[in-house]
Amino acid sequence: MTEKRTSIHGQWTSRTVFILAATGSAVGLGNIWKFPYITGENGGGTFVLVYLLCIALIGVPIMMAEIMLGRRGKQSPINTMLALAKDEHRNPGWVWLGWMGVAAGFLILSYYSVIAGWAMSYVFRTGGGMFLGITADGANSIFAALVGDPERLLAWHTIFMLITMMVVARGVKNGLEKAVTLLMPLLFALLIVIVIYAMTTGYFMEGVRFLFTPGTIDGKGILTAMGHAFFTLSLGMGAIMVYGSYLSEEYSIVQASILIALADTVVALLAGLAIFPIVFANGLEPGAGPGLIFQTLPIAFGHMQGGTLVGVVFFTLLMFAAWTSAISLIEPAVAYLVENKGVNRIYASVWIGGLTWFVGLGTVFSFNIWKDKTLSIPYLFENKTFFDTLDYLTANIMLPLGGLFIALFAAWVMREQSTKDEMKTYPFIYKTWRFLVRFITPVAVIIVFLKAVDAI
Ligand code: PHE
Repeated sequence: MTEKRTSIHGQWTSRTVFILAATGSAVGLGNIWKFPYITGENGGGTFVLVYLLCIALIGVPIMMAEIMLGRRGKQSPINTMLALAKDEHRNPGWVWLGWMGVAAGFLILSYYSVIAGWAMSYVFRTGGGMFLGITADGANSIFAALVGDPERLLAWHTIFMLITMMVVARGVKNGLEKAVTLLMPLLFALLIVIVIYAMTTGYFMEGVRFLFTPGTIDGKGILTAMGHAFFTLSLGMGAIMVYGSYLSEEYSIVQASILIALADTVVALLAGLAIFPIVFANGLEPGAGPGLIFQTLPIAFGHMQGGTLVGVVFFTLLMFAAWTSAISLIEPAVAYLVENKGVNRIYASVWIGGLTWFVGLGTVFSFNIWKDKTLSIPYLFENKTFFDTLDYLTANIMLPLGGLFIALFAAWVMREQSTKDEMKTYPFIYKTWRFLVRFITPVAVIIVFLKAVDAI
């Protein structure tokens, strides 16, 4: 690299702020909504084990690589890839990796916003006392009524997108810090309250057993577990890279990555421990699908002491957690427009947010008027709705592919000296990281891909 770059978008004021923002990006619907339902669909124990292995062996090393690339490039992922490829005298074609990330972020946000809308609407459902003394059937029908109504889903999706756009327009750093410092610990505390309720159901051990006793898993389940490791850590599309680009030189990437991954994993496991005992206590189906938390948590809120308050606060916090993730999904695209098109953040956010909103209509309709319109792609999947298809293509294909190439770029394309300079860590840790991203991570991702299509 010729000279030190600086980011035109500013910097985090401290290392803690970076860790909080990145944790805010990582912890979101992925942990509380998605992890329980895909764990349920894939039979529990083995799925959780594969997911944990993927976090440790694939997720953490790739997170380090992404932060490192971002901090070195100091620009949106698209321009960072271009600049770093040039620094290393390599093919500028690597820029496509930045573009694929922008596309993935855009597609993910389009459905993420719809689900965040569910959480918002549940703030009001809980607050209005709809769940007091509710049965499993009652909770099911309230959920079915919500997703069956495209107009309501559309309204919440629109509100969520508007809030996200407003924050992104003002600049990611304003407000995010406070939101995360205050709200994350609170979300954590409330999860513990729900876990304690789960302990009183008499089915806690069933939940634990379901989550931690190994059973069977097929190639597709393994792919879902790996895809989720990327999704939940916000990896493979440039969200963490763009946050890394606002990080100043002196901070340890290794320590930050481990902290973020740990916090994220603990939240997911707590969500699992909260949900599954309620599932078993009420004779519900673990594989109920994307509605799982909306069919189980209301039962907890409807029966515990002070449940209405706990429920209102919980769904509000879930909305905030979704929002701090949504911001990072759209930031790479906004940063790019600001850098290359000379537009301001407001203009960039409105355009990208508007387009995302439009694509989100497909997800809104997936649960009602387009429920039966499904797509099959040979070898990959069968009969998936618009929402399921987007989710599959982004989480199971685009993110792992993005992560794979980020690892290859960091480990094989960049000179060893460049990555050593940027990682600034102990030789032993550096060597371990380099070994992981050179060999273990890429091979693991490729094996999982091949297994999912039954090629091995
Ligand atoms: N990690 C977020 C979650 O778990 C989702 C996300 C994915 C955010 C990819 C940014 C990038 O909810």
